Amino acid sequence: MTHMKSRRRFLKSLGATGGIAWSATAWTSTFLVNTLWPTSARAASNLAIRVSAKPRAVSLFPDRDTDVWSYDAQVKTGNQNRVRASGKGFLGPVIEVRTGERLAVEYVNEIPEESIIHWHGLDVAADQDGHPHHTVPSGGTYNYDFEIANRAGLYFFHPHPHGKLGNQVNRGLVGVMIVRDDEEDSLGLPRDRDEHLVCIQDRRVNADRQFEYLTGGMHDRMMGMHGNRLFLNGELNQVIRARQGTQRLRILNGSNARIYNLAWSDGRELEIIGTDGGLLEKAHKTQSILLAPAERLDVLVDLSDFTAGQTLSLQSVPIAGTAGKPFDVMTLEVTSEKGVSYSAPMQLSKVDLIAELEAVNLNSPKSFQLIPTRDHGWTIDGLPYDMHGASPKETVRFGDTEIWEFDNTLAGMPHPIHVHGTQFQVLSRQSGKFTGAMDLGWKDTVLLMPGDKVRVIKRFNTHKGMFVYHCHNLEHEDMSMMRNFIIQ
Ligand code: C2O
Ligand code: CU
Ligand code: CU
Repeated sequence: MTHMKSRRRFLKSLGATGGIAWSATAWTSTFLVNTLWPTSARAASNLAIRVSAKPRAVSLFPDRDTDVWSYDAQVKTGNQNRVRASGKGFLGPVIEVRTGERLAVEYVNEIPEESIIHWHGLDVAADQDGHPHHTVPSGGTYNYDFEIANRAGLYFFHPHPHGKLGNQVNRGLVGVMIVRDDEEDSLGLPRDRDEHLVCIQDRRVNADRQFEYLTGGMHDRMMGMHGNRLFLNGELNQVIRARQGTQRLRILNGSNARIYNLAWSDGRELEIIGTDGGLLEKAHKTQSILLAPAERLDVLVDLSDFTAGQTLSLQSVPIAGTAGKPFDVMTLEVTSEKGVSYSAPMQLSKVDLIAELEAVNLNSPKSFQLIPTRDHGWTIDGLPYDMHGASPKETVRFGDTEIWEFDNTLAGMPHPIHVHGTQFQVLSRQSGKFTGAMDLGWKDTVLLMPGDKVRVIKRFNTHKGMFVYHCHNLEHEDMSMMRNFIIQ
């Protein structure tokens, strides 16, 4: 099918409201917003925190502690409630911020190797983004200070030193950031006790209860690190207690390489209200949905009809036509408490579709081949990662909107491709096979299934400088499946 056709189908799937972006007025207003990007005056930071990465022993198993590396955060100035522990396991803290706020972070690297923090999904300046060349040595610090430009959504943070991040994440270094804004507040979505973080991570645990890394040698590097145990929010406990009402699940695939195909155990549809970059224009129902490393989902589930003690599990089910058994990822156990039943409004938020006409390369999308080479393993275009430069194709003019195409037709495994900087939108997927909510809304990571080709449209209009794009299968990223791009 042609590109334009699939775009039209994409618009159709969003319904009538989605189509408005095609009218001349909406296109013009999008363009104006673009050119008049606010240069806001710097206010004092609303929240100043210290985040340290350090070795720690956590009690995941009853018989023996597990040695992990973990993020720890304290509020230096601002509301103490903005930082809370995600649980008792290895997952780092949950930091809550609001759009427009200024966040200052003093990062202290207390692990025995170099590292740096990247704020996944946040649109920040190049020197705030945790580019591999900003890595600090063990014992070093890095001071961040940026404004939260993103809309409400679930974001996260993790190390980004080249060649070492797979291991650092595997040892436990992931933290969560929740951005809230007025638009989201006005919806009155389930909050507090009725809003749950669901960070899914697998780990290979050995007999000594320690996390193994790359113990499978080249196979692990080529396929990505897959574990033998599943963790929820950094703990083995997979049960979340929920009231008899509507629950909001903020789902993050924090695994190194494992892709989940999520579905409810009782066969009900998943009600998806948001993806990587926040709320969708309207709720989207689907039987199952693929969630690749780094991707996020915002899901509502109504448990009003449940009675105390009843359970409902979120499972990963085999993709249609493939072998395998479903397994539980998380189980909601309903308490005797009555909650509130919430139904999503017809329109959840305003997602302005980026018009294809806005792209400077409308008729010549930049194509990136996802291919392995003998020398470098997995690569983009057969090239190794070059920490300091970018090719002409990877050089973008500030203010431009471009169409990028990721081509996974030449190799037989999935690659979740992540681009730093602003969130993008998915224009089309060649296969038409894997589609639906996984491509809706604002995205920062898009899953390329084997044999697929995906086009995304992205505005490069917020910060100049050098950023990276890469596969979020962390073993692929460490290997060579990462490149710089430069906005100038
Ligand atoms: Cu979550 Cu460059 O990555
Ligand atoms: Cu990122
Ligand atoms: Cu990959």
